[in-house]
Amino acid sequence: MIVFDRVSFSYGIQQVLKGVSFSIPFNERVAILGGSGDGKTTLLKLIVGLLKPDSGRIVVDGEDITDKNEDELREVRTKFSIVFQEGALFDSLNVKENIAFGLREYSKMTEEEIDKKVRGLLGEVGLEHAIELMPEELSGGMLRRVAIMRSLAAFDPKMFLYDEATTGLDPVNADIICKLIVDLTQGGKGFIIVTHKVFDALRLAERFMFLKNGSILFDGNRDQLMQSSIPEIRVFLTELNPPLPASS
Ligand SMILES: Nc1ncnc2c1ncn2[C@@H]1O[C@H](COP(=O)(O)OP(=O)(O)OP(=O)(O)O)[C@@H](O)[C@H]1O
Ligand SMILES: [Mg+2]
Repeated sequence: MIVFDRVSFSYGIQQVLKGVSFSIPFNERVAILGGSGDGKTTLLKLIVGLLKPDSGRIVVDGEDITDKNEDELREVRTKFSIVFQEGALFDSLNVKENIAFGLREYSKMTEEEIDKKVRGLLGEVGLEHAIELMPEELSGGMLRRVAIMRSLAAFDPKMFLYDEATTGLDPVNADIICKLIVDLTQGGKGFIIVTHKVFDALRLAERFMFLKNGSILFDGNRDQLMQSSIPEIRVFLTELNPPLPASS
């Protein structure tokens, strides 16, 4: 369970989160929606202790992580598989070394075991042939798949955190990533996907939170989201049925 208790956060004088509270069980499938700059990435970083709140408490798996030091936070981070929006891979390492990174760092696997594990993970996402490629040689969709496999290589996470996992991808690649996200949670694990793509959120999540101006404007299930009369949410939902442009 992740608990935010009246969490506020600012970058300098810019307040990004204003007294945000919620509880998310590890097995829930949650989408956090919001516009660009509304604090979605910031919220994910707070969950794993990459940022510290100005006030309020953050509890993860029953432990208050608000005042934990870097060493203690490393342990907290092993509970999650995290794929961040940017810088998902190390540019100077090839695909194999990117995925092996966590294994070398945290496990005592031999070179042979690491090779087998990496090939197995890449095989699961149809990318075994890409094992020697550098990140710059991958398409956006391939990059995301490698990043997702890298994030779960070293640990058996309790929950997946995805920052804009499908943003910027064409529909086919977005579909591949959505299926991968679903496959990885077959065992009953949950995820938090942060996105401004309502369509993908609706395919994946059972609970929807909408972040606006530092507050949670909405928190509910699919039916409640679809029926919401909150103007900001209605605007987001037009993505599903966009008005056709007038022909000239
Ligand atoms: N390191 C930083 N230093 C200063 N301001 C920052 C920093 N990171 C983010 N911000 C600001 O904080 C606000 C929230 O940023 P955040 O990245 O959390 O938004 P977001 O909802 O993830 O946006 P997007 O959908 O574009 O990814 C933005 O106004 C952004 O400019
Ligand atoms: Mg972001």
